[in-house]
Amino acid sequence: MNNAPIGIFDSGIGGVTIFKSVKKLLPKENFLYFSDNLNSPYGNKSKKEIQTLSLKNSEWLLNKGCKIIIVACNTATTNCISLLRKSFKTPFVGVEPAIKPAATNTKTGNIGVLATKGTLNSNLFGITSNDYCSKIKIIEKNGDGLVEMIENGILNGTEIEKLLIKFLNPMIKSNIDHLVLGCTHFPLINDSIKKILPGNVKILESGEAIAKQTKKIIMDNNIVGNNTNPTYNFYCNGSDNSLKKILTDNFKINII
Ligand code: DGL
Repeated sequence: MNNAPIGIFDSGIGGVTIFKSVKKLLPKENFLYFSDNLNSPYGNKSKKEIQTLSLKNSEWLLNKGCKIIIVACNTATTNCISLLRKSFKTPFVGVEPAIKPAATNTKTGNIGVLATKGTLNSNLFGITSNDYCSKIKIIEKNGDGLVEMIENGILNGTEIEKLLIKFLNPMIKSNIDHLVLGCTHFPLINDSIKKILPGNVKILESGEAIAKQTKKIIMDNNIVGNNTNPTYNFYCNGSDNSLKKILTDNFKINII
């Protein structure tokens, strides 16, 4: 047993979508969330910059005593998960676009992936999508501008819908039947996405898979927590407005 917190980081509030799924499956765990929103967005940064920030975020969480780290950011995972695993002894769980379930279940043979430039250009994403390219067509779109809007609290309305139409229309024209949300911020705008997509298109996000994976890893490593009153602490290094907006429960938010 180990009651130390599960650490989670993202460039902002996107990772909260992952936190909610993991918390649901592991209700006796403490959580410590770090939003690096001072440096958000990560999507257009270089691989080197993403690596430096991810190492720093991991170190910060480890100094706070976390027993495992969830990289709740596709951009960070696809650019440096192996570096993080090599740099620290603590187990890491990384969030990647859910291409496999989309590719396995598609009937039209066409799937859409909406992610950041950093994710779409990464080697890891290239390898995963190449594994499926021979069987299906992947229509990728870099959702440039969406993360900034979400961090500014814009989750619906004409401004974000206009941007989404630009990204999703080519996918709809290509007859996709699955849309992979390859950025943890995007489930926060699910309602706006659903308004644009035809009803038959299934939207895939990674929360549940990451929760199951985290449970497996803490069990395998014998570090399962058993807190009767678990704590949920949120930290950010920029403004706390965005976290306040999406955390409806009375969780503690700290600015560092
Ligand atoms: N939530 C991050 C991801 O999943 C957002 C990336 C960004 O900051 O641009 O990729």
